[in-house]
Amino acid sequence: MKLDDYKEIIRSRMSEERYIHSINVATEAVFLAKKYGADEKKAEIAGILHDITKETPKEEQLQIIAMDGIILDDVEKAAPKLWHSISGAAFIKNQLQITDEDIINAVRYHTTARQNMSLLEKVIFVADFTGAERNYPGVEIMRQKSYLGLEEAMAFGLSFSIKDLAERNKPICRCTIDAFNQIIIGK
Ligand SMILES: [Fe+2]
Ligand SMILES: [Fe+2]
Repeated sequence: MKLDDYKEIIRSRMSEERYIHSINVATEAVFLAKKYGADEKKAEIAGILHDITKETPKEEQLQIIAMDGIILDDVEKAAPKLWHSISGAAFIKNQLQITDEDIINAVRYHTTARQNMSLLEKVIFVADFTGAERNYPGVEIMRQKSYLGLEEAMAFGLSFSIKDLAERNKPICRCTIDAFNQIIIGK
């Protein structure tokens, strides 16, 4: 499949607003990939596809997840917002026949992050925060960080997510804490 095919597929599965977000994340991901030496082609594909199931009904997402043989743990079960990264990864693998593990993992961990992320995974995680239409408080700081280094941007993005989840009494995935600790400790 070509990039235009992927764009058509996501366009049919989401609102105009989220479609624009996806295109912006892809553009930003290519920019970061170029800057930090990741594969630009893969960055563009992963950016386009990262939210492919975000507007898919929850029940359908659970089916996609179950059909891939994935069993959600208690934290994942209690956090429907991160289901789309799990169902999205399963969807692009099983329905779009994407075989590149790095692209699949970039989609899988774009919400939670994890320990030992690849360059591409980091690029997509950061690009999701800094795409052109983003305008949350702190986005300019996040953009500045992303120009200084992926790790700096990751640390800022993760602390933002962890604080936000804790403040709203939402469960936090262990992999998010692991990713944060690894970056802060620098090992
Ligand atoms: Fe997402
Ligand atoms: Fe996104």
